[in-house]
Amino acid sequence: MSDQRPGDAMPIPHAGPPPRPRVLAIANQKGGVGKTTTAINLGTALAATGEEVLVIDLDPQGNASTGLGIDHKSREVSTYDVLAGGATLREIVRPTAVPRLAIAPSTLDLAGLELEIGQERDRSFRLREAITALNADPTEPPYTYVLVDCPPSLNLLTINAMAAADAILVPLQCEFFALEGLSQLLKTVEQVRSALNPALTIHGIVLTMYDARNNLSGQVVEDVRAFMGEKVYDTVIPRNVRVSEAPSYGKPVLVYDLKCAGSEAYLRLATEVIQREKALVRPLAG
Ligand SMILES: Nc1ncnc2c1ncn2[C@@H]1O[C@H](COP(=O)(O)OP(=O)(O)OP(=O)(O)O)[C@@H](O)[C@H]1O
Ligand SMILES: [Mg+2]
Repeated sequence: MSDQRPGDAMPIPHAGPPPRPRVLAIANQKGGVGKTTTAINLGTALAATGEEVLVIDLDPQGNASTGLGIDHKSREVSTYDVLAGGATLREIVRPTAVPRLAIAPSTLDLAGLELEIGQERDRSFRLREAITALNADPTEPPYTYVLVDCPPSLNLLTINAMAAADAILVPLQCEFFALEGLSQLLKTVEQVRSALNPALTIHGIVLTMYDARNNLSGQVVEDVRAFMGEKVYDTVIPRNVRVSEAPSYGKPVLVYDLKCAGSEAYLRLATEVIQREKALVRPLAG
């Protein structure tokens, strides 16, 4: 006799091929534009809506791991081990304080990966293979979203993220040089699409660190919308001191201060991301 009562939460084993999560790479080779902040807080907002979310830290700096409360000392295994072939993603995943949000932490070892595997034939597909195996165990609840926090570079790590992703989400900071570098990024996406991942799309561009007191911010929003049209999300993330304070407490801003303007903006962004997902996925399903 089982102790299980009707209504008890129990993972329902899934049959057939493992369900694939939606994989979004958060990429921009420019530094400090809000990639990590977006990975942490979009991840938190998606988890809050009931999704099972994994943030993969693919940056040797490890800011997404720190920002989600995983200190450097406790990182024994990391995304380095996964890409170097010594561990599976499930073996390195750590829970966070946010229900349904997990993190695959990184360490500085990642910085040396390109030298180590740069000559291997499957070097660009290491992350893709790891994600394919992620939901293989039918007794574990499957992840529905994977967000990959990329380093500020178009190196082998970012190529792995793009080769593994269904779509790219590009944070652009509202500053004078916002568009500089975007064409290089789009060219790289095009190259990855033709050589490695034909299904890759641009999910959207999110404008970050918008400052309403600064005329330049408004001008940048106009320019980017004129250049990239509907690819730009309606939601603009404001510059907000609570957003920048939260990582030092190892918390997403949505946990640190749910009511601040930054949290509200990331919740709106999650709603838009889900709406676009429906538009992107439905035509394939139907
Ligand atoms: N909306 C915001 N309001 C205020 N500060 C912000 C906001 N978004 C990000 N920041 C701060 O700006 C800095 C850069 O943000 P973040 O680390 O997310 O960028 P990044 O693109 O991941 O940087 P890197 O290229 O180094 O990985 C951080 O100190 C972060 O706390
Ligand atoms: Mg970062």
